[in-house]
Amino acid sequence: MKFKLGLCGLGTVGRGVVDMLTRNGRTIAERTGLEFSVTRVLVRDPAKERDLPPGARLTFDYRELIEDPEVDIVVEVMGGRDTALEVILGALRGGKSVVTANKEVMASFGPEVFAAAREHGADLFFEASVGGGIPLIRPLKQCLVGNEVSSLLGILNGTSNYILTRMAAGVEFSAALREAQQRGYAEADPRADLEGHDAARKLAILAAVAFGARVKVQEVYTEGIGGLEARDVEYAARLGWAVKPLVMGDMLEGRLSLRVYPALLPLSHPLAKVDGAFNAVLLEGDFVGRTLFYGQGAGGAPTASAVVGDIIEAARNRLNGHNGVGCTCRCEVQVADMAEHVCQHYLRFVARDVPGVLGRAASVLGACGVNIHSVLQTPLERGEAELVFVTHPVREGSLREALAELRREVSGLTLRTHLRLAGVAEL
Ligand SMILES: NC(=O)c1ccc[n+]([C@@H]2O[C@H](COP(=O)([O-])OP(=O)(O)OC[C@H]3O[C@@H](n4cnc5c(N)ncnc54)[C@H](OP(=O)(O)O)[C@@H]3O)[C@@H](O)[C@H]2O)c1
Repeated sequence: MKFKLGLCGLGTVGRGVVDMLTRNGRTIAERTGLEFSVTRVLVRDPAKERDLPPGARLTFDYRELIEDPEVDIVVEVMGGRDTALEVILGALRGGKSVVTANKEVMASFGPEVFAAAREHGADLFFEASVGGGIPLIRPLKQCLVGNEVSSLLGILNGTSNYILTRMAAGVEFSAALREAQQRGYAEADPRADLEGHDAARKLAILAAVAFGARVKVQEVYTEGIGGLEARDVEYAARLGWAVKPLVMGDMLEGRLSLRVYPALLPLSHPLAKVDGAFNAVLLEGDFVGRTLFYGQGAGGAPTASAVVGDIIEAARNRLNGHNGVGCTCRCEVQVADMAEHVCQHYLRFVARDVPGVLGRAASVLGACGVNIHSVLQTPLERGEAELVFVTHPVREGSLREALAELRREVSGLTLRTHLRLAGVAEL
């Protein structure tokens, strides 16, 4: 059985999809009985030289592609938000199946696009939008669907993970970022990666599927890795921890806590060993227990692997005359306030090296209910010292009040870095 694809985007992922369908087309046909050809390709820049798949026509107007009666499945791998949303909605309204890798659209407009898919009896698949080539969405919607998921912990931004891995080897932040850009892991404008927004979008999508709850990306508490210094990663290692760019989701007493920030993990934790540009997600389900997904979260070939899997699923459904699972969100949940989150904290200060600063800082923290678990003190040059406090578990709100009190009460003490330890629920 033959299916025709409309491919929106012929960049890193689009090229990977064409390569996979070309190189593995025979294997796919033998295993599934399905053959695919790309009939139309949408791009933006008419001046670029293109190596088009055989028989494909180029278009610069997405309407021509989604309205082409020959196109069975629209593959949206162009990125961006508004035009991509129009492509997805337009294709679904025309009854075409849609496969997308677009986390921005799925995280911001999930309810709208799923409503269009349902109304028009069309499939919408988005495996590649989270974790690139790592199967996450379909395992959650199918193999693990009978579980109540209580927590997920993951690394979903390869750029940040690469940078922190290099910092653990003593490379400073800016040099590690340059390396990531040279290797093609980081975009020319890396802000969405470094500020945590890319990971927050992926967490919003994954949490909606894992917890069956509607999640807005604005509800994810988000901090990036900017501001970290190699010495923080060094101190962490001395204390037995790795610094990792984590996404965390926990269902606690009916409230969902969703967080993205660099956090400290014991070196023995499985995610502490996920290095470089690799991604991983550790899930806890009530029947399956802990289960770990690991692999390449980006890149043309791994992402194409997920997109092609979705294309085949969409084609099978068209052939059998039914639709895939669709939206699995069944409830609205209350999202927990970050101020209520309880965990241990790592605080690195630079202090004037005069007697009494350490004692005053510890007593102000103690008076605000923040108990110190351990302290490291290192003399610096120019009459300064570095103080690293690790606290016992404390409410985020109480810690913030204590830090404000420290600023008011203890002169000569500057907070350089604040990190959190991944809490007991996340381990
Ligand atoms: N790259 C990855 O590793 C990866 C991993 C997971 C998910 N994704 C997602 O996959 C999508 C594509 O990423 P990519 O890295 O392949 O992007 P890319 O290399 O920048 O390629 C984008 C392609 O889409 C075309 N395009 C962009 N905007 C367009 C518009 N308004 N109208 C027509 N054509 C347009 C571009 O045309 P021109 O060729 O004319 O510029 C280009 O061919 C994004 O949603 C991204 O988040 C990427």
